[in-house]
Amino acid sequence: MAERTFVLLKPDAVQRALVGEILGRFERRGLKVVAMKMLRVTRSLGETYYAEHKGKAFFDPLMSYIAAGPVVAMVLEGEGAVAIVRKMMGKTNSAEAEPGTIRGDLALTIGRNIIHGSDSLESAKREIPLFFKPDEIHAYARVDEAWLRE
Ligand code: RTP
Ligand code: MG
Repeated sequence: MAERTFVLLKPDAVQRALVGEILGRFERRGLKVVAMKMLRVTRSLGETYYAEHKGKAFFDPLMSYIAAGPVVAMVLEGEGAVAIVRKMMGKTNSAEAEPGTIRGDLALTIGRNIIHGSDSLESAKREIPLFFKPDEIHAYARVDEAWLRE
């Protein structure tokens, strides 16, 4: 069944001009971009978004990292999108991420791992409304596919 997942290209992905490279991988895989925007993550949005990590040693560095520059937020749609995106991203610690994955090809460390993707459908449902209003998400699946092929 088609599901939606939330993806955030972190400030280092934008600063290193990797947006097209990463977006292209998702598009070529067949995932549909149903929402996308560039924005700055404020401290308050960052704390809500990463609430599960509050109190951990890496929380403050994580807040500085995520707020260090503009990010690109997107919603991707497709069958099994949540798990597929996580697999394509590779391990959280880029140093351990397999070659062929986004982190394994494009990042070096856990502290600069260039991308976030929802780790479950429940997380996606919590994260998407933090970044997008309902009318900013486009029902791509309902576009007339025959017309698009012409
Ligand atoms: P994300 O939430 O960003 O998609 O990453 P994830 O699920 O793969 O990893 P998670 O455990 O949720 O960690 C969130 C982000 O915090 C930073 N982090 N640093 N030990 C460390 O220094 C450490 N651990 C985590 C990373 O930026 C990670 O993506
Ligand atoms: Mg996470």
